[in-house]
Amino acid sequence: ALPPPSPATLLAWYDRHARRLPWRIGPADRRRGVTPDPYRVWLSEIMLQQTTVAAVKPYFEGFLARWPDVAALAAAPSEEVMKAWAGLGYYSRARNLKAAAETVAREHGGRFPATEAGLTSLPGIGSYTAAAIAAIAFDQPAAVVDGNVERVLSRVFAVETPLPAAKTEIRRLQAGLTQKERPGDYAQAMMDLGATICTPRRPACSLCPWSENCAAHAAGIEESFPVKPNK
Ligand code: ADE
Repeated sequence: ALPPPSPATLLAWYDRHARRLPWRIGPADRRRGVTPDPYRVWLSEIMLQQTTVAAVKPYFEGFLARWPDVAALAAAPSEEVMKAWAGLGYYSRARNLKAAAETVAREHGGRFPATEAGLTSLPGIGSYTAAAIAAIAFDQPAAVVDGNVERVLSRVFAVETPLPAAKTEIRRLQAGLTQKERPGDYAQAMMDLGATICTPRRPACSLCPWSENCAAHAAGIEESFPVKPNK
């Protein structure tokens, strides 16, 4: 049997290879005690729900320049917000964005709830987004499972159950790996590993910090995971 994947190994990789993204604080910043702005984390997670990182970047910068905090967004005319969103698609996200900003401003004194349950109560925030914001913005040990994480963990543990049934098992695996230490960096490290190394096709296993811990790699069948449902 292979040695189990260690969060510490992944975090050491992340310290060297973290993507610099406009809404993100780096691992070195976090170490110095800098904390992320929950407004930026929330705005980026909503934009990233159905849109790629490359497409989100200019919209994120535009929103932030125009509405630098949640109070500003809450006070903005809806038509202006919808216009600024134009091109990103899935416009219910923009309507929910505005509604959530108003709720945070009026009912929470301008501060985002710091728990998954509190975050889920806001419009447009489902269980994935709540976990991502709790982990990244508030450094809580929330199990963040997106498509990247499903791919990485289904390979490392050679999860034979097809998606979507495998989601329960993958969530349990991710919960077991999420530590009290650096949960925000861990969540982002998993996203980065999936986006840059453990890609759907031709993963760059020679660069992967978990290559020696990966059951799919050991068998040379990385691309067989995640297992797709029979059509
Ligand atoms: N996709 C969803 N959330 C993300 C994040 N915080 N960083 C990069 N890609 C993401």
